[in-house]
Amino acid sequence: MDDLSTEAARRRAIALATALATNTSLAPQAYERTLLERYALGELTLDQVLQRLDTRVQQLFYRSRATQAFAEDHLRALMDESRAHNEAHGITGVLCYSERQFVQLLEGTPEHVHALYERIQRDPRHAQVTTLYDEASGQRFFANWQMGFVRVDADEFHWVLTSLARPSDDQELARQYVQDPALRLLLEAFTRA
Ligand SMILES: Cc1cc2nc3c(=O)[nH]c(=O)nc-3n(C[C@H](O)[C@H](O)[C@H](O)COP(=O)(O)O)c2cc1C
Repeated sequence: MDDLSTEAARRRAIALATALATNTSLAPQAYERTLLERYALGELTLDQVLQRLDTRVQQLFYRSRATQAFAEDHLRALMDESRAHNEAHGITGVLCYSERQFVQLLEGTPEHVHALYERIQRDPRHAQVTTLYDEASGQRFFANWQMGFVRVDADEFHWVLTSLARPSDDQELARQYVQDPALRLLLEAFTRA
């Protein structure tokens, strides 16, 4: 086997493997491409990439109410803490906050997602944690986000929450109305689901 200790050599190996998989079901999706890029850069070893190549993605989506208003630095601390854990456990997703309300999408292996959700449910910083969706999926929607965070407009937030609970006509309307890119991705994910 060639020496894969340089970035150029790793990139050649990735290009070859990707070319072989083109137009097959093995072609790398967004999450796999992120892992391969990190391998090329030397941030992950091949073993770490293989460990994270999960095909069983669980998507869990919940809403909750903050028990106190979250100031900017509290939110930043929460996100720093979350990203370190999520990065170590292959969890991706997005957290949206608006006027004391949260919605969060967690994506990862069922084991990791459910273990994290149990901890999140016990967190005293929020209450009324309500599961909106908890299903297996073939695809990650936020593959590049260790945990994206968006502070969203209250009206757009309201549209997304009400439309998700209602039939597809409302979701179509919401898609026309909602501009925030993360909220649009969420809508798209759940309309397809
Ligand atoms: C709205 C909200 C979202 C959170 N999201 C995450 C997350 O994505 N990843 C994470 O590790 N912790 C997240 N946390 C923090 C966890 O609830 C918990 O504090 C952290 O995992 C440490 O858990 P432990 O105290 O049981 O060790 C979140 C907390 C809140 C209030």
